[in-house]
Amino acid sequence: MIIARTLAEVRQAIQGKGAAGLVPTMGALHEGHISLISASAQECDFTSVTVFVNPTQFGDNSDFDLYPRTEAEDFEKAEKAGAQLVFAPSAAEMYSGTGVSVRAGSAANGLEGASRPGHFDGVVSIVAKLFTLFYPDRAYFGLKDLQQCAVIQQLIDEQLFPIELRLIETLREYSGLALSSRNERLSPTDKAQASKLYHEMMEAASAAAGGQPAGQALNRLNARLETAGFQVEYTAFVDPKTMATTETPHRLSRLAAAVQLGGVRLIDNVPVI
Ligand code: PAJ
Repeated sequence: MIIARTLAEVRQAIQGKGAAGLVPTMGALHEGHISLISASAQECDFTSVTVFVNPTQFGDNSDFDLYPRTEAEDFEKAEKAGAQLVFAPSAAEMYSGTGVSVRAGSAANGLEGASRPGHFDGVVSIVAKLFTLFYPDRAYFGLKDLQQCAVIQQLIDEQLFPIELRLIETLREYSGLALSSRNERLSPTDKAQASKLYHEMMEAASAAAGGQPAGQALNRLNARLETAGFQVEYTAFVDPKTMATTETPHRLSRLAAAVQLGGVRLIDNVPVI
Protein backbone atom coordinates (compact mmCIF):
# COMPACT_ATOMS: atom_id res chain seq x y z
CA MET A 1 0.00 0.00 0.00
CA ILE A 2 1.27 3.45 -0.94
CA ILE A 3 1.37 6.13 1.77
CA ALA A 4 1.13 9.58 0.17
CA ARG A 5 1.70 12.85 2.04
CA THR A 6 1.65 15.34 -0.82
CA LEU A 7 -0.62 16.20 -3.75
CA ALA A 8 2.22 15.37 -6.16
CA GLU A 9 2.64 11.88 -4.67
CA VAL A 10 -1.09 11.21 -5.09
CA ARG A 11 -1.12 12.44 -8.71
CA GLN A 12 1.77 10.17 -9.57
CA ALA A 13 0.39 7.12 -7.73
CA ILE A 14 -3.15 7.12 -9.18
CA GLN A 15 -2.23 7.53 -12.86
CA GLY A 16 -3.83 4.91 -15.11
CA LYS A 17 -5.11 2.76 -12.25
CA GLY A 18 -8.58 1.85 -13.68
CA ALA A 19 -11.85 2.09 -11.75
CA ALA A 20 -11.04 4.14 -8.71
CA GLY A 21 -12.81 4.29 -5.34
CA LEU A 22 -12.30 7.05 -2.77
CA VAL A 23 -13.06 6.75 0.96
CA PRO A 24 -12.62 10.10 2.78
CA THR A 25 -12.11 9.79 6.55
CA MET A 26 -10.69 11.70 9.48
CA GLY A 27 -8.91 8.58 10.75
CA ALA A 28 -9.41 6.81 14.09
CA LEU A 29 -10.74 4.05 11.87
CA HIS A 30 -13.34 1.64 13.27
CA GLU A 31 -15.38 -1.14 11.66
CA GLY A 32 -17.80 1.45 10.21
CA HIS A 33 -14.98 3.02 8.18
CA ILE A 34 -13.67 -0.43 7.33
CA SER A 35 -17.04 -1.39 5.81
CA LEU A 36 -16.70 1.59 3.42
CA ILE A 37 -13.15 0.61 2.46
CA SER A 38 -14.19 -3.05 1.95
CA ALA A 39 -17.11 -1.99 -0.26
CA SER A 40 -14.75 0.09 -2.40
CA ALA A 41 -12.15 -2.69 -2.55
CA GLN A 42 -14.85 -5.04 -3.77
CA GLU A 43 -16.22 -2.69 -6.44
CA CYS A 44 -13.09 -0.85 -7.63
CA ASP A 45 -9.64 -1.75 -9.00
CA PHE A 46 -7.90 0.90 -6.91
CA THR A 47 -9.08 2.14 -3.53
CA SER A 48 -7.73 5.31 -1.93
CA VAL A 49 -8.44 6.20 1.70
CA THR A 50 -7.83 9.71 2.97
CA VAL A 51 -6.96 10.33 6.62
CA PHE A 52 -7.20 14.02 7.41
CA VAL A 53 -8.66 15.75 10.45
CA ASN A 54 -10.11 18.67 8.53
CA PRO A 55 -9.79 21.87 10.60
CA THR A 56 -12.40 23.86 8.63
CA GLN A 57 -15.30 21.61 9.66
CA PHE A 58 -14.75 22.02 13.43
CA GLY A 59 -16.53 24.92 15.12
CA ASP A 60 -14.59 24.55 18.29
CA ASN A 61 -10.78 24.35 18.45
CA SER A 62 -10.87 22.09 21.49
CA ASP A 63 -13.00 19.52 19.62
CA PHE A 64 -10.41 19.60 16.83
CA ASP A 65 -7.55 19.21 19.31
CA LEU A 66 -9.35 16.37 21.12
CA TYR A 67 -10.02 14.43 17.91
CA PRO A 68 -8.26 11.05 18.21
CA ARG A 69 -5.20 10.60 15.99
CA THR A 70 -4.11 7.00 15.46
CA GLU A 71 -2.25 7.13 12.17
CA ALA A 72 -0.12 3.99 12.35
CA GLU A 73 -3.10 1.78 13.26
CA ASP A 74 -5.23 3.50 10.60
CA PHE A 75 -2.72 2.67 7.87
CA GLU A 76 -2.60 -0.96 8.95
CA LYS A 77 -6.39 -1.27 9.05
CA ALA A 78 -6.83 0.42 5.67
CA GLU A 79 -4.34 -1.92 4.05
CA LYS A 80 -5.98 -4.98 5.60
CA ALA A 81 -9.39 -3.83 4.32
CA GLY A 82 -8.02 -3.68 0.76
CA ALA A 83 -6.84 -0.09 0.20
CA GLN A 84 -4.04 0.49 -2.33
CA LEU A 85 -3.26 4.02 -1.18
CA VAL A 86 -3.62 6.12 1.95
CA PHE A 87 -3.35 9.89 1.69
CA ALA A 88 -2.53 11.60 5.00
CA PRO A 89 -1.61 15.21 4.21
CA SER A 90 -0.69 18.12 6.47
CA ALA A 91 -3.14 21.02 6.79
CA ALA A 92 -0.71 23.19 4.83
CA GLU A 93 -0.83 20.72 1.93
CA MET A 94 -4.62 21.05 1.71
CA TYR A 95 -5.17 24.75 2.56
CA SER A 96 -3.12 27.66 1.31
CA GLY A 97 -4.94 30.23 3.46
CA THR A 98 -6.32 32.38 0.62
CA GLY A 99 -9.87 31.88 1.89
CA VAL A 100 -11.21 30.56 -1.43
CA SER A 101 -13.87 28.04 -0.46
CA VAL A 102 -16.89 26.04 -1.57
CA ARG A 103 -20.20 26.50 0.25
CA ALA A 104 -22.64 23.73 1.12
CA GLY A 105 -26.06 23.80 -0.54
CA SER A 106 -29.61 23.71 0.79
CA ALA A 107 -29.31 20.19 2.25
CA ALA A 108 -27.06 21.74 4.91
CA ASN A 109 -29.95 23.80 6.32
CA GLY A 110 -31.39 22.65 9.64
CA LEU A 111 -30.53 19.69 11.89
CA GLU A 112 -26.70 19.28 12.01
CA GLY A 113 -26.27 22.44 9.94
CA ALA A 114 -28.23 24.43 12.53
CA SER A 115 -26.43 22.84 15.50
CA ARG A 116 -22.97 23.24 13.94
CA PRO A 117 -22.81 26.50 11.95
CA GLY A 118 -20.21 26.35 9.17
CA HIS A 119 -19.63 22.62 9.61
CA PHE A 120 -20.91 21.56 6.18
CA ASP A 121 -19.08 24.40 4.42
CA GLY A 122 -15.91 22.89 5.87
CA VAL A 123 -16.94 19.40 4.79
CA VAL A 124 -17.66 20.39 1.18
CA SER A 125 -14.47 22.49 1.02
CA ILE A 126 -12.29 19.49 1.79
CA VAL A 127 -14.36 16.91 -0.12
CA ALA A 128 -14.37 19.11 -3.27
CA LYS A 129 -10.57 19.26 -3.06
CA LEU A 130 -10.34 15.48 -2.65
CA PHE A 131 -12.70 14.93 -5.61
CA THR A 132 -10.61 17.24 -7.79
CA LEU A 133 -7.38 15.57 -6.70
CA PHE A 134 -8.47 11.93 -7.04
CA TYR A 135 -11.23 12.21 -9.65
CA PRO A 136 -12.62 8.86 -8.43
CA ASP A 137 -15.29 6.87 -10.29
CA ARG A 138 -17.03 6.18 -6.99
CA ALA A 139 -16.92 7.83 -3.58
CA TYR A 140 -18.00 5.99 -0.43
CA PHE A 141 -19.86 7.69 2.41
CA GLY A 142 -21.69 6.31 5.45
CA LEU A 143 -25.42 6.84 6.04
CA LYS A 144 -24.49 7.33 9.71
CA ASP A 145 -23.94 10.95 8.64
CA LEU A 146 -27.18 11.22 6.68
CA GLN A 147 -27.09 14.98 6.14
CA GLN A 148 -23.47 14.81 4.99
CA CYS A 149 -24.56 12.30 2.30
CA ALA A 150 -27.23 14.72 1.02
CA VAL A 151 -24.80 17.65 1.10
CA ILE A 152 -22.19 15.67 -0.86
CA GLN A 153 -24.74 14.57 -3.49
CA GLN A 154 -25.66 18.23 -4.02
CA LEU A 155 -21.95 19.09 -4.31
CA ILE A 156 -21.50 16.38 -6.96
CA ASP A 157 -24.57 17.53 -8.92
CA GLU A 158 -23.84 21.25 -8.73
CA GLN A 159 -20.10 21.06 -9.43
CA LEU A 160 -20.58 18.48 -12.23
CA PHE A 161 -18.28 15.87 -10.71
CA PRO A 162 -18.72 12.64 -12.72
CA ILE A 163 -18.68 10.60 -9.52
CA GLU A 164 -21.09 7.93 -8.32
CA LEU A 165 -21.90 8.41 -4.65
CA ARG A 166 -22.11 5.06 -2.89
CA LEU A 167 -23.94 5.20 0.43
CA ILE A 168 -23.23 2.47 2.96
CA GLU A 169 -25.70 1.57 5.74
CA THR A 170 -24.59 2.27 9.33
CA LEU A 171 -22.54 -0.38 11.07
CA ARG A 172 -23.65 -0.99 14.66
CA GLU A 173 -22.46 -2.77 17.74
CA TYR A 174 -24.47 -5.86 18.64
CA SER A 175 -26.33 -3.64 21.13
CA GLY A 176 -27.57 -1.41 18.30
CA LEU A 177 -25.27 1.53 19.09
CA ALA A 178 -23.95 3.08 15.85
CA LEU A 179 -20.15 2.84 15.70
CA SER A 180 -18.50 6.21 16.19
CA SER A 181 -15.14 7.44 17.42
CA ARG A 182 -17.11 9.53 19.95
CA ASN A 183 -18.32 6.33 21.68
CA GLU A 184 -14.87 6.11 23.28
CA ARG A 185 -15.79 9.17 25.34
CA LEU A 186 -18.82 7.39 26.93
CA SER A 187 -18.46 5.83 30.37
CA PRO A 188 -19.24 2.07 30.45
CA THR A 189 -22.66 2.79 32.04
CA ASP A 190 -23.49 5.47 29.48
CA LYS A 191 -22.38 3.18 26.67
CA ALA A 192 -24.86 0.52 27.77
CA GLN A 193 -27.53 3.22 28.01
CA ALA A 194 -26.64 4.69 24.59
CA SER A 195 -27.91 1.62 22.74
CA LYS A 196 -31.46 2.63 23.77
CA LEU A 197 -31.31 5.47 21.27
CA TYR A 198 -31.40 3.07 18.32
CA HIS A 199 -34.15 0.89 19.77
CA GLU A 200 -36.38 3.84 20.66
CA MET A 201 -35.82 5.32 17.19
CA MET A 202 -36.68 2.04 15.49
CA GLU A 203 -39.88 1.83 17.51
CA ALA A 204 -40.90 5.38 16.58
CA ALA A 205 -40.04 4.76 12.91
CA SER A 206 -42.12 1.62 12.80
CA ALA A 207 -45.02 3.35 14.60
CA ALA A 208 -44.97 6.05 11.90
CA ALA A 209 -44.72 3.40 9.18
CA GLY A 210 -47.76 1.77 10.77
CA GLY A 211 -49.79 4.98 10.44
CA GLN A 212 -49.18 6.85 13.71
CA PRO A 213 -49.07 10.62 13.01
CA ALA A 214 -45.44 11.81 12.82
CA GLY A 215 -45.87 14.45 15.54
CA GLN A 216 -47.27 11.90 17.95
CA ALA A 217 -44.46 9.41 17.23
CA LEU A 218 -41.84 12.13 17.80
CA ASN A 219 -43.41 13.38 21.04
CA ARG A 220 -43.45 9.87 22.42
CA LEU A 221 -39.87 9.26 21.25
CA ASN A 222 -38.62 12.50 22.86
CA ALA A 223 -40.34 11.69 26.15
CA ARG A 224 -38.92 8.16 26.21
CA LEU A 225 -35.41 9.38 25.39
CA GLU A 226 -35.51 12.06 28.11
CA THR A 227 -36.72 9.43 30.63
CA ALA A 228 -33.82 7.20 29.59
CA GLY A 229 -31.38 10.01 30.44
CA PHE A 230 -30.74 11.56 27.01
CA GLN A 231 -30.97 15.30 26.37
CA VAL A 232 -32.74 15.54 23.02
CA GLU A 233 -31.35 18.14 20.60
CA TYR A 234 -33.63 17.21 17.71
CA THR A 235 -35.67 14.32 16.34
CA ALA A 236 -37.25 14.59 12.88
CA PHE A 237 -38.55 12.62 9.95
CA VAL A 238 -36.63 13.78 6.89
CA ASP A 239 -36.38 13.34 3.16
CA PRO A 240 -32.83 11.97 2.81
CA LYS A 241 -32.27 13.72 -0.56
CA THR A 242 -33.20 17.27 0.50
CA MET A 243 -33.03 16.88 4.31
CA ALA A 244 -36.37 18.72 4.51
CA THR A 245 -38.41 17.59 7.50
CA THR A 246 -41.72 15.93 6.75
CA GLU A 247 -44.96 15.46 8.68
CA THR A 248 -45.94 12.61 6.39
CA PRO A 249 -43.07 10.11 6.41
CA HIS A 250 -43.10 7.25 3.90
CA ARG A 251 -40.85 4.30 3.16
CA LEU A 252 -38.05 6.46 1.67
CA SER A 253 -37.94 8.82 4.66
CA ARG A 254 -35.50 8.49 7.56
CA LEU A 255 -35.90 9.32 11.22
CA ALA A 256 -32.90 11.39 12.35
CA ALA A 257 -31.87 12.37 15.87
CA ALA A 258 -29.16 14.15 17.83
CA VAL A 259 -28.90 13.71 21.59
CA GLN A 260 -26.44 14.26 24.39
CA LEU A 261 -25.55 11.61 26.91
CA GLY A 262 -23.06 12.25 29.69
CA GLY A 263 -21.69 15.25 27.77
CA VAL A 264 -21.20 13.24 24.57
CA ARG A 265 -23.15 14.21 21.45
CA LEU A 266 -24.59 11.25 19.52
CA ILE A 267 -26.34 11.30 16.15
CA ASP A 268 -28.20 8.48 14.46
CA ASN A 269 -30.83 7.82 11.83
CA VAL A 270 -32.97 4.86 10.83
CA PRO A 271 -35.23 3.97 7.90
CA VAL A 272 -39.01 4.26 8.21
CA ILE A 273 -40.08 0.64 7.88
P1 PAJ B 1 -15.37 10.49 9.56
O1 PAJ B 1 -16.20 10.92 10.70
O2 PAJ B 1 -14.02 9.92 9.81
O3 PAJ B 1 -16.21 9.45 8.73
C1 PAJ B 1 -15.72 8.94 7.51
C2 PAJ B 1 -16.84 8.15 6.85
O4 PAJ B 1 -17.18 7.02 7.65
C3 PAJ B 1 -18.11 9.00 6.68
O5 PAJ B 1 -18.66 8.78 5.38
C4 PAJ B 1 -19.01 8.43 7.77
O6 PAJ B 1 -20.40 8.57 7.49
C5 PAJ B 1 -18.59 6.97 7.78
N1 PAJ B 1 -18.98 6.30 9.03
C6 PAJ B 1 -18.79 6.74 10.30
N2 PAJ B 1 -19.35 5.89 11.19
C7 PAJ B 1 -19.90 4.89 10.47
C8 PAJ B 1 -20.64 3.70 10.80
N3 PAJ B 1 -20.92 3.36 12.07
N4 PAJ B 1 -21.06 2.89 9.79
C9 PAJ B 1 -20.77 3.21 8.49
N5 PAJ B 1 -20.09 4.32 8.11
C10 PAJ B 1 -19.67 5.14 9.09
O7 PAJ B 1 -17.30 12.10 7.91
C11 PAJ B 1 -16.13 12.48 8.00
O8 PAJ B 1 -15.14 11.75 8.58
C12 PAJ B 1 -15.68 13.83 7.44
O9 PAJ B 1 -16.73 14.75 7.50
C13 PAJ B 1 -15.14 13.73 5.98
C14 PAJ B 1 -16.22 13.28 5.00
C15 PAJ B 1 -13.93 12.78 5.92
C16 PAJ B 1 -14.65 15.13 5.52
O10 PAJ B 1 -13.65 15.61 6.35
